[in-house]
Amino acid sequence: MKNIVLIGFMGTGKTTIAIELAHRLNMRYVSTDGLIEKKEKRTINEIFTKSGEGYFRDVESAVIRDVACMEGQVIDTGGGAVIRDENIAYMKSSGIVICLAANDETIMERTKKYKHRPLLNVEDPKRKIRDLIAKRAPFYAKADHTLDTGALTVRQVVEKIIELVNATNKPKEDPKQ
Ligand code: S3P
Repeated sequence: MKNIVLIGFMGTGKTTIAIELAHRLNMRYVSTDGLIEKKEKRTINEIFTKSGEGYFRDVESAVIRDVACMEGQVIDTGGGAVIRDENIAYMKSSGIVICLAANDETIMERTKKYKHRPLLNVEDPKRKIRDLIAKRAPFYAKADHTLDTGALTVRQVVEKIIELVNATNKPKEDPKQ
């Protein structure tokens, strides 16, 4: 079984959906941020403050390259994992890439109660969200499919992803018949 890779901006629901999806499909749940923290033995906040974003991105790329070699996983990636072409290439080679999306207000609502995202620990997180989404839009557009999670329940998103995966795995019909 190939991997199912979830990409998308912070607060679009990747972690919640990936855990539920892995459970439903009896696949392994893998978080690239979780692996980065394990490898570095420190939190993402600490990595950003002590070593900088560039260092974080290097570790992130190495982790993505490693997980892409294994199968049967639902991979929950960090929101910025898409900004390096090599990362997207590894993700695509390992399975189906699905982007979760939501509008700025939904993202603001979902992320404002947490402090573990260094990029949003700024004076004007709303503006930061808007700017980053605009900047990253061309990268998220490289996904095989995009789903807006704003008006859907976790269950509905999971069902839709399962439909997409099944449609992708369906053998093509014989044109001669
Ligand atoms: C980031 C998203 C975070 C985490 C890091 C950077 C980003 O992951 O990788 O804080 O650049 O968008 P989530 O999308 O799971 O919050």
